[in-house]
Amino acid sequence: MTGRGLGPAAIREFGTNYIFANGDLGAIVADPSVRNLNSVSAFKKAGFNIVGTVQLVDEDFERHVVRLDRIEE
Ligand SMILES: CC(C)(COP(=O)(O)OP(=O)(O)OC[C@H]1O[C@@H](n2cnc3c(N)ncnc32)[C@H](O)[C@@H]1OP(=O)(O)O)[C@@H](O)C(=O)NCCC(=O)NCCS
Repeated sequence: MTGRGLGPAAIREFGTNYIFANGDLGAIVADPSVRNLNSVSAFKKAGFNIVGTVQLVDEDFERHVVRLDRIEE
């Protein structure tokens, strides 16, 4: 089921029609591993931008901070 565009579609749908539609949050943030290229790509396709890269304590890999801002209508 992976590799068919379902992940980005689900992320976008969950963000716009659930999170943004049912609250006053201004943005959604996630932190996929920089090694998980498929996940990072899926977030980008869903409209997220990479806004930073962090190294957490006790992890031997970095994470991208990805963010999707609410679009005011
Ligand atoms: C990450 C994930 C949610 C993305 O959803 P998806 O439906 O696969 O998203 P897409 O179809 O847009 O694929 C994203 C990229 O991964 C690649 N990909 C996905 N599955 C793949 C597979 N089995 N083999 C090779 N490449 C694959 C796609 O080719 C695509 O690459 P591209 O953007 O460079 O063209 C999904 O692949 C997944 O569940 N992966 C395993 C668990 C995981 O990593 N979860 C995320 C934790 S943060």
